[in-house]
Amino acid sequence: MSAILFDRIDEPGLNDIAVYEKRGGYEALKKALTVPTAGIIEELKASGLRGRGGAGFPLGTKASFIPTADIDKYLVCNADESEPGTFKDRELMQKNPHLLIEGMIIAAYAVGANRSFIYIRGEYELQANILEEAIAQAKASGYIGENILGSGFSLDLVLHRGAGAYICGEETGLLDSLEGKRGNPRLKPPFPANQGLFQGPTLINNVETLATIPPILRMGGSEYAKLGVENSAGTKLVSISGNVQRPGNYEIELGMSSRDIIYGLAGGPDEGRTVKFWFPGGSSSPVLTADDLDLAYDFDTLAKAGTMLGSGAIIVVDDTNSVVDVALTLASFYKHESCGKCTPCREGTTWTVKMLQRIQDGEATPMDLDIISSVQEQIIGNCLCVLGDAMAMPVSSLVTKFRAEFEEHIEAARERNGLGMTPPPASEEPALSL
Ligand SMILES: Cc1cc2nc3c(=O)[nH]c(=O)nc-3n(C[C@H](O)[C@H](O)[C@H](O)COP(=O)(O)O)c2cc1C
Repeated sequence: MSAILFDRIDEPGLNDIAVYEKRGGYEALKKALTVPTAGIIEELKASGLRGRGGAGFPLGTKASFIPTADIDKYLVCNADESEPGTFKDRELMQKNPHLLIEGMIIAAYAVGANRSFIYIRGEYELQANILEEAIAQAKASGYIGENILGSGFSLDLVLHRGAGAYICGEETGLLDSLEGKRGNPRLKPPFPANQGLFQGPTLINNVETLATIPPILRMGGSEYAKLGVENSAGTKLVSISGNVQRPGNYEIELGMSSRDIIYGLAGGPDEGRTVKFWFPGGSSSPVLTADDLDLAYDFDTLAKAGTMLGSGAIIVVDDTNSVVDVALTLASFYKHESCGKCTPCREGTTWTVKMLQRIQDGEATPMDLDIISSVQEQIIGNCLCVLGDAMAMPVSSLVTKFRAEFEEHIEAARERNGLGMTPPPASEEPALSL
Protein backbone atom coordinates (compact mmCIF):
# COMPACT_ATOMS: atom_id res chain seq x y z
CA MET A 1 0.00 0.00 0.00
CA SER A 2 1.32 3.43 -0.81
CA ALA A 3 0.91 6.14 1.80
CA ILE A 4 -1.92 8.61 1.34
CA LEU A 5 -1.80 11.00 4.29
CA PHE A 6 1.86 10.39 4.99
CA ASP A 7 2.81 10.46 1.30
CA ARG A 8 6.32 12.02 1.25
CA ILE A 9 5.46 13.60 4.62
CA ASP A 10 9.11 14.34 5.36
CA GLU A 11 9.71 16.20 2.10
CA PRO A 12 11.73 19.29 3.01
CA GLY A 13 9.72 22.53 2.89
CA LEU A 14 6.34 20.83 2.55
CA ASN A 15 4.92 23.41 4.97
CA ASP A 16 5.42 25.97 2.26
CA ILE A 17 2.57 26.49 -0.19
CA ALA A 18 4.89 26.52 -3.23
CA VAL A 19 6.23 23.02 -2.42
CA TYR A 20 2.72 21.79 -1.65
CA GLU A 21 1.40 23.16 -4.95
CA LYS A 22 4.31 21.71 -6.93
CA ARG A 23 3.21 18.22 -5.94
CA GLY A 24 -0.43 18.80 -6.89
CA GLY A 25 -1.63 20.64 -3.78
CA TYR A 26 -4.85 22.66 -4.11
CA GLU A 27 -5.69 20.87 -7.41
CA ALA A 28 -8.45 18.93 -5.63
CA LEU A 29 -9.90 22.24 -4.43
CA LYS A 30 -9.82 23.72 -7.93
CA LYS A 31 -11.64 20.65 -9.25
CA ALA A 32 -14.14 20.66 -6.35
CA LEU A 33 -15.15 24.26 -6.96
CA THR A 34 -16.39 23.28 -10.44
CA VAL A 35 -18.60 20.46 -9.11
CA PRO A 36 -22.07 21.02 -7.57
CA THR A 37 -21.84 20.72 -3.79
CA ALA A 38 -24.15 17.69 -3.72
CA GLY A 39 -21.67 15.91 -6.01
CA ILE A 40 -18.86 16.38 -3.47
CA ILE A 41 -20.98 14.98 -0.67
CA GLU A 42 -21.75 11.98 -2.89
CA GLU A 43 -18.00 11.40 -3.41
CA LEU A 44 -17.43 11.55 0.34
CA LYS A 45 -20.25 9.07 0.90
CA ALA A 46 -18.87 6.77 -1.81
CA SER A 47 -15.44 6.82 -0.12
CA GLY A 48 -16.90 5.16 2.98
CA LEU A 49 -14.61 7.33 5.13
CA ARG A 50 -15.51 7.10 8.80
CA GLY A 51 -14.55 9.90 11.17
CA ARG A 52 -11.04 9.55 12.59
CA GLY A 53 -11.66 11.46 15.86
CA GLY A 54 -13.09 8.60 17.88
CA ALA A 55 -16.70 7.74 17.15
CA GLY A 56 -16.19 6.55 13.56
CA PHE A 57 -19.27 8.26 12.14
CA PRO A 58 -19.30 8.34 8.29
CA LEU A 59 -18.14 11.74 7.01
CA GLY A 60 -20.42 11.89 3.94
CA THR A 61 -23.52 11.11 5.99
CA LYS A 62 -22.62 13.76 8.58
CA ALA A 63 -22.04 16.35 5.85
CA SER A 64 -25.43 15.48 4.31
CA PHE A 65 -27.13 16.34 7.64
CA ILE A 66 -26.15 20.02 7.25
CA PRO A 67 -29.23 21.88 5.99
CA THR A 68 -28.89 23.27 2.47
CA ALA A 69 -30.73 26.49 3.40
CA ASP A 70 -28.85 29.73 2.77
CA ILE A 71 -28.12 30.59 6.40
CA ASP A 72 -24.95 31.11 8.47
CA LYS A 73 -23.18 27.74 8.65
CA TYR A 74 -19.86 26.75 10.14
CA LEU A 75 -17.09 24.24 9.67
CA VAL A 76 -14.97 23.37 12.69
CA CYS A 77 -11.82 21.27 12.73
CA ASN A 78 -11.25 19.42 15.98
CA ALA A 79 -7.50 19.65 16.58
CA ASP A 80 -7.72 19.28 20.35
CA GLU A 81 -6.06 15.83 20.26
CA SER A 82 -6.09 15.19 24.00
CA GLU A 83 -6.86 11.49 24.18
CA PRO A 84 -3.85 9.89 25.91
CA GLY A 85 -1.72 7.99 23.41
CA THR A 86 -2.93 9.99 20.42
CA PHE A 87 -0.42 12.17 18.54
CA LYS A 88 -1.19 11.63 14.86
CA ASP A 89 -2.91 14.98 14.16
CA ARG A 90 0.14 16.73 15.56
CA GLU A 91 2.44 15.22 12.92
CA LEU A 92 -0.03 15.91 10.10
CA MET A 93 -0.46 19.57 11.06
CA GLN A 94 3.24 20.06 11.66
CA LYS A 95 4.47 18.51 8.46
CA ASN A 96 1.64 19.03 5.95
CA PRO A 97 -0.61 21.89 7.15
CA HIS A 98 -1.89 22.71 3.66
CA LEU A 99 -3.41 19.23 3.28
CA LEU A 100 -5.69 20.00 6.24
CA ILE A 101 -6.43 23.52 5.01
CA GLU A 102 -7.30 22.28 1.52
CA GLY A 103 -9.57 19.60 3.01
CA MET A 104 -11.29 22.20 5.15
CA ILE A 105 -11.98 24.55 2.24
CA ILE A 106 -13.50 21.69 0.23
CA ALA A 107 -15.62 20.55 3.20
CA ALA A 108 -16.83 24.11 3.83
CA TYR A 109 -17.74 24.50 0.16
CA ALA A 110 -19.61 21.16 0.19
CA VAL A 111 -21.86 22.17 3.08
CA GLY A 112 -22.08 25.90 2.27
CA ALA A 113 -20.21 27.12 5.35
CA ASN A 114 -18.61 30.55 5.03
CA ARG A 115 -16.84 30.59 8.37
CA SER A 116 -14.43 27.96 9.59
CA PHE A 117 -12.24 27.38 12.62
CA ILE A 118 -9.41 25.13 13.67
CA TYR A 119 -9.63 24.53 17.42
CA ILE A 120 -6.14 23.44 18.41
CA ARG A 121 -5.01 22.34 21.86
CA GLY A 122 -3.01 25.01 23.64
CA GLU A 123 0.05 22.81 24.08
CA TYR A 124 0.48 22.50 20.29
CA GLU A 125 2.22 25.84 20.01
CA LEU A 126 4.63 24.80 17.27
CA GLN A 127 1.84 23.28 15.18
CA ALA A 128 -0.38 26.36 15.74
CA ASN A 129 2.41 28.66 14.54
CA ILE A 130 2.95 26.50 11.46
CA LEU A 131 -0.78 26.50 10.70
CA GLU A 132 -1.03 30.27 11.13
CA GLU A 133 1.71 30.74 8.58
CA ALA A 134 0.08 28.27 6.19
CA ILE A 135 -3.33 29.96 6.54
CA ALA A 136 -1.74 33.32 5.71
CA GLN A 137 -0.16 31.78 2.60
CA ALA A 138 -3.48 30.23 1.52
CA LYS A 139 -5.18 33.61 1.95
CA ALA A 140 -2.48 35.36 -0.06
CA SER A 141 -2.93 32.79 -2.84
CA GLY A 142 -6.68 33.35 -3.02
CA TYR A 143 -7.68 29.92 -1.63
CA ILE A 144 -9.27 31.52 1.44
CA GLY A 145 -11.23 34.77 1.42
CA GLU A 146 -13.83 36.40 -0.82
CA ASN A 147 -14.89 34.73 -4.09
CA ILE A 148 -12.31 31.93 -3.96
CA LEU A 149 -10.71 31.43 -7.39
CA GLY A 150 -13.68 33.25 -8.97
CA SER A 151 -16.11 30.54 -7.86
CA GLY A 152 -18.43 32.88 -5.96
CA PHE A 153 -17.72 30.90 -2.78
CA SER A 154 -16.23 32.81 0.16
CA LEU A 155 -14.64 31.42 3.31
CA ASP A 156 -12.85 32.73 6.35
CA LEU A 157 -10.60 30.43 8.42
CA VAL A 158 -9.57 31.25 11.98
CA LEU A 159 -7.12 29.33 14.15
CA HIS A 160 -8.25 29.21 17.77
CA ARG A 161 -5.94 27.99 20.53
CA GLY A 162 -7.47 26.04 23.41
CA ALA A 163 -6.20 26.20 26.97
CA GLY A 164 -5.48 22.52 27.59
CA ALA A 165 -8.66 20.76 28.71
CA TYR A 166 -9.48 17.24 27.53
CA ILE A 167 -13.21 17.99 27.63
CA CYS A 168 -12.73 20.65 24.93
CA GLY A 169 -12.11 17.80 22.47
CA GLU A 170 -15.71 16.68 22.99
CA GLU A 171 -17.45 18.40 20.12
CA THR A 172 -20.07 20.39 22.05
CA GLY A 173 -17.63 21.34 24.82
CA LEU A 174 -15.34 22.52 22.03
CA LEU A 175 -18.13 24.66 20.54
CA ASP A 176 -18.90 26.26 23.91
CA SER A 177 -15.20 26.99 24.39
CA LEU A 178 -15.00 28.49 20.89
CA GLU A 179 -17.92 30.73 21.80
CA GLY A 180 -15.88 32.03 24.74
CA LYS A 181 -17.65 30.03 27.44
CA ARG A 182 -16.33 27.40 29.83
CA GLY A 183 -15.94 24.23 27.74
CA ASN A 184 -18.75 22.03 29.03
CA PRO A 185 -20.58 19.48 26.90
CA ARG A 186 -24.12 20.29 25.80
CA LEU A 187 -27.16 18.08 26.05
CA LYS A 188 -27.76 16.32 22.71
CA PRO A 189 -29.96 16.60 20.66
CA PRO A 190 -29.80 19.09 19.10
CA PHE A 191 -26.67 17.88 17.33
CA PRO A 192 -24.13 20.34 15.91
CA ALA A 193 -25.28 19.61 12.35
CA ASN A 194 -28.52 21.41 13.20
CA GLN A 195 -27.55 23.68 16.06
CA GLY A 196 -23.85 24.03 16.64
CA LEU A 197 -21.58 27.05 16.80
CA PHE A 198 -23.54 30.23 17.61
CA GLN A 199 -26.69 28.10 17.13
CA GLY A 200 -25.91 27.63 13.44
CA PRO A 201 -25.57 24.33 11.54
CA THR A 202 -21.99 23.14 12.07
CA LEU A 203 -19.93 20.39 10.52
CA ILE A 204 -17.29 19.36 13.03
CA ASN A 205 -14.60 16.86 12.14
CA ASN A 206 -11.22 15.64 13.24
CA VAL A 207 -7.97 16.79 11.59
CA GLU A 208 -7.26 13.42 9.96
CA THR A 209 -10.82 13.15 8.62
CA LEU A 210 -10.64 16.56 6.94
CA ALA A 211 -7.10 15.99 5.65
CA THR A 212 -8.30 12.86 3.84
CA ILE A 213 -10.73 14.85 1.67
CA PRO A 214 -8.22 16.08 -0.98
CA PRO A 215 -6.86 12.55 -1.61
CA ILE A 216 -10.43 11.21 -1.82
CA LEU A 217 -11.34 13.75 -4.48
CA ARG A 218 -8.10 13.11 -6.36
CA MET A 219 -8.67 9.34 -6.37
CA GLY A 220 -12.47 9.37 -6.57
CA GLY A 221 -14.62 8.13 -3.71
CA SER A 222 -15.13 4.62 -5.05
CA GLU A 223 -11.39 4.09 -5.66
CA TYR A 224 -10.66 5.21 -2.08
CA ALA A 225 -13.30 2.79 -0.81
CA LYS A 226 -11.30 -0.11 -2.30
CA LEU A 227 -8.65 0.49 0.37
CA GLY A 228 -9.21 -1.21 3.69
CA VAL A 229 -12.00 -3.65 4.41
CA GLU A 230 -15.78 -3.62 4.35
CA ASN A 231 -17.19 -0.91 6.61
CA SER A 232 -13.67 0.34 7.40
CA ALA A 233 -12.50 1.97 4.20
CA GLY A 234 -9.16 3.58 3.63
CA THR A 235 -5.97 4.10 5.51
CA LYS A 236 -5.60 5.16 9.13
CA LEU A 237 -2.87 6.93 11.03
CA VAL A 238 -2.07 4.87 14.08
CA SER A 239 -0.11 6.31 17.01
CA ILE A 240 1.75 3.54 18.84
CA SER A 241 3.22 4.14 22.27
CA GLY A 242 3.98 2.35 25.51
CA ASN A 243 6.23 -0.69 25.68
CA VAL A 244 7.27 -0.98 22.06
CA GLN A 245 10.69 -0.60 20.52
CA ARG A 246 9.67 1.76 17.71
CA PRO A 247 6.91 4.05 19.00
CA GLY A 248 5.51 6.60 16.56
CA ASN A 249 2.87 7.26 13.94
CA TYR A 250 2.27 4.74 11.16
CA GLU A 251 -0.16 4.87 8.25
CA ILE A 252 -1.80 1.49 7.81
CA GLU A 253 -4.54 0.10 5.63
CA LEU A 254 -7.53 -0.70 7.83
CA GLY A 255 -7.95 -4.44 8.33
CA MET A 256 -4.23 -5.07 8.91
CA SER A 257 -3.44 -7.59 11.63
CA SER A 258 -2.87 -5.95 15.02
CA ARG A 259 0.14 -8.19 15.55
CA ASP A 260 1.72 -6.85 12.35
CA ILE A 261 1.19 -3.30 13.63
CA ILE A 262 2.47 -3.89 17.17
CA TYR A 263 5.31 -6.28 16.36
CA GLY A 264 5.93 -5.69 12.65
CA LEU A 265 5.84 -1.89 12.57
CA ALA A 266 6.48 -0.92 16.17
CA GLY A 267 8.89 -3.76 17.02
CA GLY A 268 6.87 -5.11 19.96
CA PRO A 269 8.08 -4.95 23.57
CA ASP A 270 11.76 -5.14 24.46
CA GLU A 271 13.61 -8.46 24.08
CA GLY A 272 12.40 -10.94 26.70
CA ARG A 273 9.24 -9.02 27.56
CA THR A 274 5.69 -9.93 26.53
CA VAL A 275 2.51 -7.97 25.80
CA LYS A 276 0.36 -8.04 28.92
CA PHE A 277 -2.46 -5.94 27.51
CA TRP A 278 -3.01 -3.17 24.98
CA PHE A 279 -5.40 -0.33 24.39
CA PRO A 280 -6.43 -0.48 20.73
CA GLY A 281 -8.01 2.99 20.40
CA GLY A 282 -6.62 5.41 22.96
CA SER A 283 -6.78 5.17 26.74
CA SER A 284 -10.58 5.17 26.70
CA SER A 285 -10.87 1.86 24.85
CA PRO A 286 -11.42 -1.40 26.77
CA VAL A 287 -8.14 -3.32 26.85
CA LEU A 288 -7.29 -6.42 24.85
CA THR A 289 -4.72 -9.04 25.79
CA ALA A 290 -1.97 -10.98 24.02
CA ASP A 291 -4.65 -13.50 22.94
CA ASP A 292 -6.20 -10.77 20.77
CA LEU A 293 -3.10 -9.80 18.81
CA ASP A 294 -4.31 -11.51 15.65
CA LEU A 295 -7.48 -9.44 15.44
CA ALA A 296 -7.79 -7.34 12.30
CA TYR A 297 -7.40 -3.66 13.08
CA ASP A 298 -10.69 -2.24 11.82
CA PHE A 299 -13.84 -0.67 13.29
CA ASP A 300 -16.12 -3.72 13.18
CA THR A 301 -13.62 -6.38 14.29
CA LEU A 302 -12.62 -4.35 17.33
CA ALA A 303 -16.26 -3.56 18.18
CA LYS A 304 -17.06 -7.28 18.00
CA ALA A 305 -14.18 -7.93 20.39
CA GLY A 306 -15.86 -5.60 22.89
CA THR A 307 -13.59 -2.63 22.36
CA MET A 308 -13.14 0.11 19.78
CA LEU A 309 -10.79 1.62 17.24
CA GLY A 310 -11.41 5.08 18.72
CA SER A 311 -8.74 7.59 17.77
CA GLY A 312 -6.44 4.86 16.44
CA ALA A 313 -3.94 5.08 19.28
CA ILE A 314 -2.42 1.78 20.38
CA ILE A 315 -0.83 1.77 23.84
CA VAL A 316 1.09 -1.40 24.63
CA VAL A 317 1.67 -2.47 28.24
CA ASP A 318 4.20 -5.23 28.89
CA ASP A 319 4.55 -7.74 31.73
CA THR A 320 6.76 -5.44 33.84
CA ASN A 321 3.79 -3.18 34.63
CA SER A 322 1.28 -3.48 37.45
CA VAL A 323 -2.35 -3.48 36.35
CA VAL A 324 -3.26 -1.51 39.50
CA ASP A 325 -0.80 1.26 38.61
CA VAL A 326 -2.17 1.52 35.09
CA ALA A 327 -5.81 1.60 36.28
CA LEU A 328 -5.03 4.27 38.89
CA THR A 329 -3.07 6.47 36.48
CA LEU A 330 -5.83 6.20 33.91
CA ALA A 331 -8.68 6.92 36.33
CA SER A 332 -6.77 9.87 37.83
CA PHE A 333 -6.49 11.45 34.39
CA TYR A 334 -10.24 11.22 33.74
CA LYS A 335 -11.10 12.41 37.26
CA HIS A 336 -8.89 15.45 36.72
CA GLU A 337 -10.43 16.16 33.33
CA SER A 338 -14.09 15.59 34.27
CA CYS A 339 -15.85 18.94 33.83
CA GLY A 340 -18.18 18.15 36.74
CA LYS A 341 -21.36 19.08 34.88
CA CYS A 342 -23.01 15.66 35.29
CA THR A 343 -23.09 13.60 38.48
CA PRO A 344 -22.19 10.09 37.22
CA CYS A 345 -18.95 11.34 35.70
CA ARG A 346 -18.02 13.81 38.43
CA GLU A 347 -18.71 11.42 41.33
CA GLY A 348 -17.96 8.17 39.50
CA THR A 349 -14.45 9.20 38.46
CA THR A 350 -13.73 10.50 41.97
CA TRP A 351 -14.99 7.34 43.69
CA THR A 352 -13.05 5.13 41.30
CA VAL A 353 -9.78 6.96 42.01
CA LYS A 354 -10.39 6.73 45.77
CA MET A 355 -11.09 2.99 45.55
CA LEU A 356 -8.07 2.28 43.36
CA GLN A 357 -5.92 4.37 45.68
CA ARG A 358 -7.18 2.27 48.57
CA ILE A 359 -6.17 -0.88 46.71
CA GLN A 360 -2.76 0.64 46.05
CA ASP A 361 -2.35 1.62 49.71
CA GLY A 362 -3.33 -1.80 51.06
CA GLU A 363 -6.59 -0.64 52.62
CA ALA A 364 -8.99 -2.54 50.35
CA THR A 365 -10.54 -6.00 50.38
CA PRO A 366 -11.54 -8.05 47.31
CA MET A 367 -15.12 -6.83 47.88
CA ASP A 368 -13.96 -3.40 46.71
CA LEU A 369 -13.41 -4.90 43.25
CA ASP A 370 -17.12 -5.66 43.01
CA ILE A 371 -17.92 -2.12 44.07
CA ILE A 372 -15.50 -0.71 41.47
CA SER A 373 -17.15 -2.82 38.77
CA SER A 374 -20.62 -1.77 39.84
CA VAL A 375 -19.65 1.93 39.83
CA GLN A 376 -18.31 1.57 36.28
CA GLU A 377 -21.58 -0.08 35.20
CA GLN A 378 -23.50 2.88 36.59
CA ILE A 379 -21.33 5.39 34.76
CA ILE A 380 -21.49 3.75 31.33
CA GLY A 381 -24.31 5.20 29.23
CA ASN A 382 -25.46 7.58 31.95
CA CYS A 383 -23.30 10.66 31.39
CA LEU A 384 -23.86 13.88 29.49
CA CYS A 385 -20.96 13.01 27.20
CA VAL A 386 -18.74 9.94 27.04
CA LEU A 387 -15.90 11.26 29.21
CA GLY A 388 -17.19 9.20 32.12
CA ASP A 389 -17.50 6.13 29.89
CA ALA A 390 -13.97 6.82 28.68
CA MET A 391 -12.74 5.99 32.17
CA ALA A 392 -15.32 3.35 33.05
CA MET A 393 -14.84 1.17 29.96
CA PRO A 394 -11.09 0.56 30.30
CA VAL A 395 -11.18 0.35 34.12
CA SER A 396 -14.01 -2.16 33.96
CA SER A 397 -12.11 -4.24 31.38
CA LEU A 398 -8.95 -4.20 33.51
CA VAL A 399 -10.79 -5.36 36.64
CA THR A 400 -12.61 -8.09 34.71
CA LYS A 401 -9.63 -9.39 32.78
CA PHE A 402 -7.03 -9.08 35.55
CA ARG A 403 -9.12 -9.72 38.65
CA ALA A 404 -6.66 -12.30 39.98
CA GLU A 405 -3.81 -9.79 39.82
CA PHE A 406 -5.93 -7.14 41.59
CA GLU A 407 -6.73 -9.68 44.32
CA GLU A 408 -3.08 -10.65 44.72
CA HIS A 409 -2.15 -6.98 44.93
CA ILE A 410 -4.82 -6.34 47.58
CA GLU A 411 -3.63 -9.30 49.62
CA ALA A 412 0.06 -8.40 49.39
CA ALA A 413 -0.54 -4.74 50.20
CA ARG A 414 -2.72 -5.62 53.19
CA GLU A 415 -0.05 -8.02 54.43
CA ARG A 416 2.49 -5.22 54.20
CA ASN A 417 0.16 -3.04 56.28
CA GLY A 418 -0.23 -5.80 58.83
CA LEU A 419 -3.95 -6.07 58.04
CA GLY A 420 -3.94 -9.63 56.62
CA MET A 421 -7.14 -10.58 54.85
CA THR A 422 -9.51 -10.07 57.76
CA PRO A 423 -12.31 -7.87 56.44
CA PRO A 424 -12.59 -4.51 58.19
CA PRO A 425 -15.27 -4.08 60.87
CA ALA A 426 -18.71 -3.16 59.55
CA SER A 427 -18.28 0.49 60.55
CA GLU A 428 -15.29 0.69 58.22
CA GLU A 429 -17.00 -0.91 55.24
CA PRO A 430 -15.47 0.65 52.11
CA ALA A 431 -18.75 1.79 50.56
CA LEU A 432 -19.54 4.01 53.55
CA SER A 433 -16.34 5.96 53.39
CA LEU A 434 -16.60 6.94 49.74
C1 LIG B 1 -14.15 13.62 26.21
C2 LIG B 1 -14.00 13.58 24.73
C3 LIG B 1 -12.83 14.06 24.13
C4 LIG B 1 -12.70 14.07 22.75
N1 LIG B 1 -11.54 14.53 22.21
C5 LIG B 1 -11.41 14.59 20.86
C6 LIG B 1 -10.24 15.13 20.28
O1 LIG B 1 -9.31 15.55 20.98
N2 LIG B 1 -10.17 15.16 18.91
C7 LIG B 1 -11.20 14.71 18.11
O2 LIG B 1 -11.10 14.78 16.90
N3 LIG B 1 -12.31 14.18 18.65
C8 LIG B 1 -12.45 14.14 19.99
N4 LIG B 1 -13.61 13.64 20.53
C9 LIG B 1 -14.69 13.22 19.61
C10 LIG B 1 -15.52 14.44 19.18
O3 LIG B 1 -16.55 14.65 20.13
C11 LIG B 1 -16.17 14.22 17.82
O4 LIG B 1 -16.79 12.99 17.79
C12 LIG B 1 -15.18 14.31 16.66
O5 LIG B 1 -14.55 15.56 16.65
C13 LIG B 1 -15.91 14.12 15.36
O6 LIG B 1 -14.99 14.11 14.31
P1 LIG B 1 -14.93 12.90 13.28
O7 LIG B 1 -16.35 12.60 12.86
O8 LIG B 1 -14.11 13.41 12.15
O9 LIG B 1 -14.31 11.76 13.98
C14 LIG B 1 -13.76 13.60 21.93
C15 LIG B 1 -14.92 13.11 22.53
C16 LIG B 1 -15.03 13.09 23.90
C17 LIG B 1 -16.29 12.57 24.51
